[in-house]
Amino acid sequence: MKISASILATSITQLGRIIPSINPEAVDYIHMDVMDGNYVPQISFGEAITREVKELTTIPLDVHLMVKKPEDHFQKYLDLKPAYVTFHQETTDFGVRLSDEIRKSGSKVGISLNPMTPVTSLKYILPYIDMILIMTVDPGFYGQKFILGGLDKIKEAADMVSHLPIDIEVDGGVNASNIADIRKAGANICVVGAGLFKEGDPSSNGLNLKKLAG
Ligand code: DX5
Ligand code: ZN
Repeated sequence: MKISASILATSITQLGRIIPSINPEAVDYIHMDVMDGNYVPQISFGEAITREVKELTTIPLDVHLMVKKPEDHFQKYLDLKPAYVTFHQETTDFGVRLSDEIRKSGSKVGISLNPMTPVTSLKYILPYIDMILIMTVDPGFYGQKFILGGLDKIKEAADMVSHLPIDIEVDGGVNASNIADIRKAGANICVVGAGLFKEGDPSSNGLNLKKLAG
């Protein structure tokens, strides 16, 4: 199991201390939750903070765009060479073109599905993407509770792409009590916010979560 650390659950004024202290063996990606205050209620940060975070670590970035019309915003992140750039299925009518442009820049493409959005909605875009990000909370805030039925949805997505080189990432409410079941359901990357940063040390928490996932 790979761990993607959601820095939304930290204090932005402490990033200069927290990010360099993260052990790359415990955390595989730094998950950047870009929120526009329009698609989701909160404004978090954009490309300027993402750029500063990149300078603080060698851990690759995992950019999660929670913005309306991601086609107007994604370009600003491409020169940071994120491992993944993920947009929401619900936010654009131009997923194929957007995916093509992200891939051309060298980053992998993720598409995220809110809890209400069916897995089958991705059927025709599978050849263009590298990851499905299953939201297991309604997006907008860290520290929410993993939704009922989340494991079934992960399994459905994993079954759909079992013959394809597509990662399954899970985001929302992942913690020590559910990460083994999430792994069993077929996910190979977990975003973790509160479960890493709200209690104890993020690196020990990351190593522990990996161990629990098996
Ligand atoms: C929610 C964000 C998540 C969130 C995860 O809208 O996309 O990445 O910060 O935090 P936890 O793990 O606390 O649910
Ligand atoms: Zn996220």
